[in-house]
Order: sequence, then C-alpha cells, then structure tokens
Amino acid sequence: MDGNGRWAKKRHLPRLAGHRKGVEAVRRAVETAPTLGIEVLTLYAFSSENWRRPADEVSDLMGLLRHYLRTEIAELHRNGIRMRFIGDLSGLNGDLVTLLGEAAELTRDNTKMTLVLALNYGSHDELTRVVRELATAALEGTLDPAAIDAAAIEARLDTVDLPPPDLLIRTSGEQRLSNFLLWQAAYAELVFTDELWPDFNAASLTAAVTAFGTRDRRYGGR
Ligand code: FPP
Repeated sequence: MDGNGRWAKKRHLPRLAGHRKGVEAVRRAVETAPTLGIEVLTLYAFSSENWRRPADEVSDLMGLLRHYLRTEIAELHRNGIRMRFIGDLSGLNGDLVTLLGEAAELTRDNTKMTLVLALNYGSHDELTRVVRELATAALEGTLDPAAIDAAAIEARLDTVDLPPPDLLIRTSGEQRLSNFLLWQAAYAELVFTDELWPDFNAASLTAAVTAFGTRDRRYGGR
C-alpha cells in the first residue's frame, strides 16, 4: 500500500493525512475484493523495517491501526470477514496484540473472505524464525534434518493454512517486493500500478484482477 506519503506531499499535507486516506482505500479494497471473487486479501500495513521511520509516524500508523480495528471489527464481522495477522506480533504493543487476538477470535468462523494484515512483517524475519525453529527441533532430536522439505517450512510460516498469493499488487510506481511474502509469492503474478495507494479504488482493483486473468500461468512447466 505504497504512496501515502507522496499523496500527502502533493497536497502540502502532513504524511498522517496520506495514511488516513490510505485507510479509506483499505476500506474500499476490503469491500470490493469479495465481489471480485477474492478469497484472501493480504495487506502489507507495517513492515519490520518501518520502525526506522520517525517515532511520530510510527505512532500515527499504530494509532490508525488501533482505531481501524476498534471501529470496524464489528462491521467486518457482520460482513463475514475472517481476520488473520502475520508478522512478529510480539514486537507490537500489548494492547494492540490483545485487540488482534480478539479480532481473530471473533471472526474465526467467517467465510466470505479472509483479510490478512501484515504487521511488523518481513519475509527475512519470518524465514529466520522458521529456520531457528527447525534448527531447535533438529538439535532436540524431534526433527530429522533430512526430513526438512518445503512442506516443513510452509507449516512454520506465518501464513500456515493460507493459500499462496495468486496476484501481488504494488502501487505508486515502485517495482520491487520489499521483503513481502518472498517464499509465498514464488509464482504470484505481479501487477505494478502508478496510482498512489490513497487513490486506489474499486476500478483499480478490478483492473488488476482483469490483468491477472490474461496471464498464462505455467508454474515452471510449459
Ligand atoms: C506506505 O506509504 C504505507 C505505509 C507504510 C503504511 C500503510 C498503512 C495504512 C494504509 C494505514 C493503516 C492500515 C490499516 C490496515 C488500517 P509511504 O508512507 O511509504 O508512502 P511514500 O512512499 O509515498 O512516502
């Protein structure tokens, strides 16, 4: 969800105004996605590298997230949205972690769409945690290193039980993955758009899904 800062800068507004508009775009995407047949929508809301931003911006982003969850969880639940969170949640404030746990628990049986928020998420951190867990199990003798395969890794990723992404969209003209779902996106189709995240709307999501529909997916075969 890139481009909130530039959206605000173009209007001579503080970055927070861009992030606020970004939350509106989140709302639109969550409403539109199920109408397009999307079963799982994952939003990269805060990366493990975003802590390097100025403290007031980090605090603004955490505040927006807290506000979004507090005010929208009931409606998300009414709309049949199941919520999941990926990332190292132990690095977040305790009150936020409690809120995330409540949201996941309340919505766990919903089936219309799964909304995954990536918070304090980075693929390098996620894979490092997996390797540490595998090494510990091997050292303790509960895991044979020769038995480590892709399934053993996937069973320990934050995305366990979620399908790999089919389509990965990055806004704001940047063309990189920035440490997002690097394992899981091995065969994802990539769509890059110049639109800034606050401008991303139902038509933008529909256009990305339409572009996805024209791709010839071969998964390494022919
Ligand atoms: C990137 O734009 C955006 C972020 C780092 C934060 C995304 C967060 C939200 C949209 C709000 C909170 C999320 C939820 C789910 C309620 P940028 O600031 O890097 O923009 P720039 O590259 O133009 O500076």
